Amino acid sequence: MDSVTRVDDLRTRIAGWRRAGERIALVPTMGNLHAGHLELVLRAREQAIRTVVSIFVNPLQFAPDEDLAAYPRTLEVDRKRLAEADADLLFAPAVEEVYPGGQAEQTRVEVPGISDILCGASRPGHFTGVATVVCKLFNMVQPDLAVFGEKDFQQLMVIRRMTTDLSMPVEILGVPTVREPDGLAMSSRNGYLSAEERQRAPRLQQILRSAMQSLQRGDALAGVESRASAELAAAGFEPDYFSVRRAADLREPGADEHKLVILAAARLGRARLIDNLRVDMPK
Ligand code: PAJ
Repeated sequence: MDSVTRVDDLRTRIAGWRRAGERIALVPTMGNLHAGHLELVLRAREQAIRTVVSIFVNPLQFAPDEDLAAYPRTLEVDRKRLAEADADLLFAPAVEEVYPGGQAEQTRVEVPGISDILCGASRPGHFTGVATVVCKLFNMVQPDLAVFGEKDFQQLMVIRRMTTDLSMPVEILGVPTVREPDGLAMSSRNGYLSAEERQRAPRLQQILRSAMQSLQRGDALAGVESRASAELAAAGFEPDYFSVRRAADLREPGADEHKLVILAAARLGRARLIDNLRVDMPK
């Protein structure tokens, strides 16, 4: 597997593939790769001839009080994993390569509405940072297809909206969440958990599942949400939100909504964990 750090080199490598008419997929990541990321690579390889993976810890999507400095950087191990997964090219640029003019005056991509709720409400500016870097990566690679995880359900929606609203000729593929055997959604941030917190962490998914069952039994939404938040707190989490939304657009559901999604974010020790579960309501 080839690996480049400069946009010029990236474009040179990709130009030949494009001339040959090869379908190109992009898998954007921040590295510290786990089986969830590798599943995205596998899905990309099924759908394209060439797969480019980017590893870039994007400072623009971290608030000053967040974990940018602590975020795990494991480039050499990641490179090996990607080679084993048969990715074609790793793009791992430095911050100055992506933001040569600095970050303060960087042109930004704002996806209003959806960026301001749920994770966006607790992390102001986060989704603008995500949309901006993904837009830049799309322009650098010019992929036919880009692959994202449903683990970051709201992020996937922000990216779909950006792509549609800005008429970007990129197909977006969402991939179901890959989990540990005990149900915890895989995440680079799981590494922040102590052994004892790690044992408790699967409660997040269990509480999502029991909330799903309550909804399907016909329990009122507000009660389900507040009970789940209380259960999270009792399990030692500091809940940020626990919210039942319309799967199509993450708005508050009306009375007769059939496609729902429950989204949750909670702090456990040093880690901020997120997870979600889609719910099909009985007709
Ligand atoms: P990162 O957290 O590294 O995730 C990269 C991609 O992997 C995202 O699309 C994410 O949804 C997906 N992913 C993470 N954990 C997963 C799991 N357990 N199962 C399936 N997919 C999973 O998300 C980002 O980086 C950044 O915000 C990025 C999009 C790269 C922009 O900087």
